[in-house]
Amino acid sequence: MLLEEAKLLLVLSIMWVMLARPTASMRTTLIDWHGLLRVHMPGYYSSIFNRVSTVIISYSSWNGKKMHANYDLVTGFLENKLHFRGFVISDWQGIDRITSPPYANYSYSVQAGVHAGIDMFMVPYNYTEFIGELKFQVKNNFIPMSRIDDAVRRVELAKEAVGKSLVLLKNGENADNPLLPLPKKATKILVAGSHADDLGAQCGGWTIQWQGLDGNNLTIGATILEAIKKTVDPSTQLIYEENPHSTSVSSNNFSYAIVVVGKPPYAETFDDSLDLTLPDTDLTIITNVCGVVIISGHPISIQPYVEKMDALVAAWLPGTEGQGVADVLFGDYGFTGKLAHTCFKTVDQLPMNVGDKYYDPLFPFGFGLTTEPVKAN
Ligand SMILES: *[C@@H]1O[C@H](CO)[C@@H](O)[C@H](O)[C@H]1NC(C)=O
Ligand SMILES: *[C@@H]1O[C@H](CO)[C@@H](O)[C@H](O)[C@H]1NC(C)=O
Ligand SMILES: *[C@@H]1O[C@H](CO)[C@@H](O)[C@H](O)[C@H]1NC(C)=O
Ligand SMILES: *[C@@H]1O[C@H](CO)[C@@H](O)[C@H](O)[C@H]1NC(C)=O
Repeated sequence: MLLEEAKLLLVLSIMWVMLARPTASMRTTLIDWHGLLRVHMPGYYSSIFNRVSTVIISYSSWNGKKMHANYDLVTGFLENKLHFRGFVISDWQGIDRITSPPYANYSYSVQAGVHAGIDMFMVPYNYTEFIGELKFQVKNNFIPMSRIDDAVRRVELAKEAVGKSLVLLKNGENADNPLLPLPKKATKILVAGSHADDLGAQCGGWTIQWQGLDGNNLTIGATILEAIKKTVDPSTQLIYEENPHSTSVSSNNFSYAIVVVGKPPYAETFDDSLDLTLPDTDLTIITNVCGVVIISGHPISIQPYVEKMDALVAAWLPGTEGQGVADVLFGDYGFTGKLAHTCFKTVDQLPMNVGDKYYDPLFPFGFGLTTEPVKAN
C-alpha cells in the first residue's frame, strides 16, 4: 500500500510555492494561466515526463481555488494533458480544508476531492467516516463507479512496483557463480530476521498511522515469509526462525537462507536519527547465517557484513506486497532496479554524493546487478 521513501516514489507536489503546513491552507497564489505555466510549471514537467509515480496535492490555492478540489488542474491538466499515469494522493486532512473552516461540510469535501482526481486519501483519524461517506456517495450516484475504478487501477500496480524497485547489490562471489535467482525446489531453507514476517515493518512510516506500526494486524497484505511459502515448491521444507542461533544454523543442513532485516517503522520528527546502522540483533543474525540479506529503509551502514553475505538485495519498504519480493528472488521476474542514492562505506564519509571530487562509495549511485527471469524453476 503506502510507499514512503521506500518504493522510492518521488513525491512531487503541485505546490506552486512551498509553504509551511499551518499556514499553507490559507495561502492562495494569484497569477493567470499563462503566468502559472511560465513561472511555476517548468520545474514539474520533467518529473512528469520522467514518469514520477506519485503526486501529492498541496493545501494551497490558485486564485482562491483549493488545489484539493481543482478538477481542471488535477484531472484536466495533470492527467489528461500531461498524461500522468501514476496516482494522486491528498495531503494530511487535505480534503477537510477544501471548506473554510475545515471539515465544515465533509460530504462536500469527499465529493469534491474524488471528483478533482485524487486517487488515495490521507485521512489520519476518522477514516471510517471517510469510507462511509464515500460508499454513500457511490451508492447514490453522486460519485460514478468509473471514477473509483480509475483510482483503483492507478494504485494497484504495487506488486509490480516492488519487483521493479528491488536493487541487487551482490550476487555470489563473482558473476560466474551467481546465487540468485534461488531454486524453488530445495531440501530445506531457512527464513530469518526481524523483517521476514512483519507487515508493519515492511510498510514503514506513513502507513495507517503517521509513524507506522510493527506487527501483522496493521493492515492486510503478504509478508515476505508468506510470499516465500507460496512461491517455493511444495516439497521444499521451509523453516522460519526470527532469530536463529548459530548452532541451529550449523546443525541444520539448510540449502540456503534468506535473512530479512531492517529498521523499525519510522517517519519524520519522532524518528529523525543520525544512527544509520542496523539493530544489533540483526547484525548477529547476519553473522550467524550469512545468507541472502534484504534491507529495508534508508541507506544503512553494512560494509563490514557484505563480505559475509552471498547475496544482498536492497528491498526498500515493499509495503503490503511481499510477493513482489519473492517473485524476483525466485526468478519469476529478473532484477532490474538501480540505486537512487549512493551507498556509503562508513557514516563518517557523509555527506557523499555522486559527482563529488572524492567519491569512494560501497556501491555507487545507479548501481544494480541484473538477473534474467527463469522459465522453469
Ligand atoms: C454539503 O455538501 C453537500 C454536497 O455537495 C450539499 O448537498 C449540502 O447542501 C452541503 N451542506 C451544507 C450544510 O452546506
Ligand atoms: C467519526 O465520524 C463519525 C461520522 O461522522 C462520527 O459519528 C464519529 O463520532 C467520529 N469518530 C471520531 C472518533 O471522531
Ligand atoms: C495488534 O497487535 C498489537 C501487538 O502486536 C496489540 O497490542 C494490539 O492490540 C493489536 N491490535 C488489534 C486490533 O488486534
Ligand atoms: C546436506 O544437503 C546436501 C544437499 O543439499 C546433501 O548432499 C548432504 O548429504 C546433506 N548432508 C547432511 C549431513 O545431511
